[in-house]
Amino acid sequence: TGSVTYDPGFVNTASCRSDITYIDGDAGILRYRGYPIDQLAENASFLEVSYLLIYGELPSATELESFSDKVRRHTMLHEEMKGFFAGFPSDAHPMPVLSSAVSALSTFYQDSLNPFDRDQVEISTVRLLAKVPTIASYAYKKSIGQPSLYPDNSLGYVENFLRMTFGVPAMPYEVDPVVAKVLDMLFVLHADHEQNCSTSTVRLVGSSQANLFASVSAGVNALFGPLHGGANQAVLEMLQEIHDSDDDVDSFVNKVKNKEAGVRLMGFGHRVYKNYDPRAAIVKKAAQDVMAKMQTPDPLLEIAMKLEEIALADDFFVSRKLYPNVDFYTGLIYKAMGFPTKMFTVLFALGRLPGWIAQWREMINDPDTKIGRPRQVYTGAGERSFLPMDKR
Ligand code: CMC
Repeated sequence: TGSVTYDPGFVNTASCRSDITYIDGDAGILRYRGYPIDQLAENASFLEVSYLLIYGELPSATELESFSDKVRRHTMLHEEMKGFFAGFPSDAHPMPVLSSAVSALSTFYQDSLNPFDRDQVEISTVRLLAKVPTIASYAYKKSIGQPSLYPDNSLGYVENFLRMTFGVPAMPYEVDPVVAKVLDMLFVLHADHEQNCSTSTVRLVGSSQANLFASVSAGVNALFGPLHGGANQAVLEMLQEIHDSDDDVDSFVNKVKNKEAGVRLMGFGHRVYKNYDPRAAIVKKAAQDVMAKMQTPDPLLEIAMKLEEIALADDFFVSRKLYPNVDFYTGLIYKAMGFPTKMFTVLFALGRLPGWIAQWREMINDPDTKIGRPRQVYTGAGERSFLPMDKR
């Protein structure tokens, strides 16, 4: 292959240098800007972690207040964006609606197109953080035929999103503080994960000097796939399928082991973690806590725990170092909160947003950045002469 290294899936290729997130996959360690994920999940709010990822340091109380205030001021969408939502079919999946709407922000904020203008990047950062939850709730409301709600900026970031999602115009909506706290924590756990598929996409698109909205919109599309963010929806569908087949966990595990029709244990395995995903451990605990408070616990939690137990003791999974990843238990919590399955990946996108923004900003400011342009190993035909139509 000459001077070109063949590395499908970039398993061994570092595409950039980064100060943002550290992962030790063998030890199961994840840190944002040096801070261990469990400490952040327990002590920091999502906006605090967003600030940390984007600006590099934990904010002081005044810095956090001013950052939150800026975000609060930009939560409304341009009224004309409503027409945009109206154009989608009523049963549209909210992920492509989200990516289209994020892409459309470039048309509404044409002052945000220069990636090298610091002020423009700053305002685009704030607009994205502020507007994506509003877009997400509009996409959801569209899918169930309810009117969308304007943001209520007296509420916190996550509370506002919950109200726009579950509230209706004619009735007051009380945000459950436990739900808000758990969702905020789940967003913290998703906030960055170094060069995963969607983040690499954001960087690759941005490396052509496309603006932040265009790059993040591409990231949302990358996240949609079932091997990436779409896994949280796929896990719940898998658990439901097992439940509907009389809870036959063993025969499902056998199907996975026999690689029947490409059946995988969704929510298991990771390119980098060859140990328990530290985020999965925190999510599992949260799922158990949330379920313990419910009057009728979800039978799908039992199935998930049984699947995990069987897999962790089975040589197929042990020898391949397949452990639960962040997506294994999140869907159960989202379901308990009242989100339909097709919103799960949207929730992942809300959480991952500050990571995409931080990585894009780091990329654009790195003097080493070049346009992303991988090479290939050509395997097609050698030179041959054109065949006229009557000779083919
Ligand atoms: N169930 C069954 N077998 C699996 C699984 C799984 N979930 N994951 C990997 N394997 C097997 C795979 O068949 C292969 O076996 P063999 O060597 O016999 O061919 C071996 O393990 C290595 O797998 P791979 O596909 O080469 O590993 P990868 O690093 O390319 O893929 C992954 C990583 C996350 C795409 C994969 O583990 C997977 O498909 N998992 C299920 C989907 C999922 O949960 N995705 C969420 C990932 S975490 C959050 C996120 O990124 O969104």
